[in-house]
Amino acid sequence: MKGDQRNEAASPVEECGIAPTHALSLQDKAAILSEALPYMRRYAGAIFVIKYGGHAMGDEAIRRRFAEDIVLLRQVGIRVVVVHGGGPQIGSMLKRLKIRSAFVDGLRVTDAETVEVVEMVLSGLVNKSLVAAITRAGGMAVGISGKDGGFVEARPLEHRRRDPTSHIEEVLDLGFVGEPARVDPSLLMRFLDAGLTPVVAPIGLGPAGETFNINADTMAGAVAAALKAKRFMLLTDVEGILDSQGRLIAELSHDQAAEMIAAGTIHGGMIPKVRTCLQAVENGVDAAVILNGRVPHAPLLEIFTESGVGTLIRPSQGE
Ligand SMILES: Nc1ncnc2c1ncn2[C@@H]1O[C@H](COP(=O)(O)OP(=O)(O)OP(=O)(O)O)[C@@H](O)[C@H]1O
Ligand SMILES: [Mg+2]
Repeated sequence: MKGDQRNEAASPVEECGIAPTHALSLQDKAAILSEALPYMRRYAGAIFVIKYGGHAMGDEAIRRRFAEDIVLLRQVGIRVVVVHGGGPQIGSMLKRLKIRSAFVDGLRVTDAETVEVVEMVLSGLVNKSLVAAITRAGGMAVGISGKDGGFVEARPLEHRRRDPTSHIEEVLDLGFVGEPARVDPSLLMRFLDAGLTPVVAPIGLGPAGETFNINADTMAGAVAAALKAKRFMLLTDVEGILDSQGRLIAELSHDQAAEMIAAGTIHGGMIPKVRTCLQAVENGVDAAVILNGRVPHAPLLEIFTESGVGTLIRPSQGE
C-alpha cells in the first residue's frame, strides 16, 4: 500500500510534479498516463466509496471536474459509489422557507416539517444535480437514497451529553436525526455489476416508515463497510486533518485521533469524519483518506500518484 512516502509540506499539485496540462509536451502527457498504469492495474475492479461534502460542491466548476473524475475512475475499471452531503444547501433552503432550527452540539434538531425539507433538498436538488453532472460528463449515474430497495434501515440517533454542572449523562431528542441500523449492499452491487454509478443521498428509512436524516459521513462509512470497499475517500473543504499548528497530518494513528478529539484540535464536522474513518477501517475497509475536494482532480491525485494527498487512516494492525 502506498502512504509511506506521504509528503506533509508540499501542495498536492507541486507534490506530484504536475504542471498545468497546457504547459506539458505530448511526451510529458504520455509519461503521466504511463505512470498511472500500475495504479490502474492495482485498482481495476476495486470498490471505492467517495463521500462528497456539501461544502466542497458549492461551485459549479468544481462539481463538473468532480463528475469528470468519477467518470474517468469508472472508465479505468474502478467501481465507484458516491455518497453526498448537503448541509449548506439544507441551511439555505430552510432560510428561504423561513423555518428556524435549533442546534445541539452542531447537530440540527430535525422536526417533522424540517425533515421534509431535508429530504427534498438532499434527494431532490443535491442528488439530481450530481447525477446530472456525472451524466453530462459521459457517465451513467443513478440517484438513490437509503429508502430505495430499503437498503439503509435507520434508527434514531442516541445523542448523549453530560451536563457540565451535575455531570449526569442525558440522551437528547434530536427528532428525525438517525443513524444506519443495517445496510444491505445487494442493491448497490447490482448497480455496480451493471456498470452504473450509484449516487446516494444520506436518508434512511425508519421501522415505522419514518424518514431519517443521517450525517453523510456516517452514511458513507456504513456503506463503505457494507461493501468492504478498498478505499473510502472523504472530500471536504480542507486539505485533510490539520494539527494544532494548522499543518497537514499525512497519516493519522488511532491513538492520535483520540488525543486530538479530546484536546479539541479535531472539532465540529471533522469529528464524525474521523470517527467514521476509524470505524470503517476496523470493519473491513482497506484505507480511508480525508482530502480537499476543492483541489482540481483531488481523487485522481490521491489514487494515481505515489505520494497521495490528504490524511490517510489505516486499520490499527497496519500501524
Ligand atoms: N483538526 C482539524 N483539521 C481540519 N479541519 C477541521 C479540524 N477540526 C475541525 N475541522 C473543521 O471540519 C470542517 C469539515 O467538516 P464539515 O462538516 O464542515 O464539511 P463536510 O463534511 O465536508 O460537508 P457536509 O457536512 O456538508 O457534508 C473543516 O472545514 C474545518 O472547519
Ligand atoms: Mg460534515
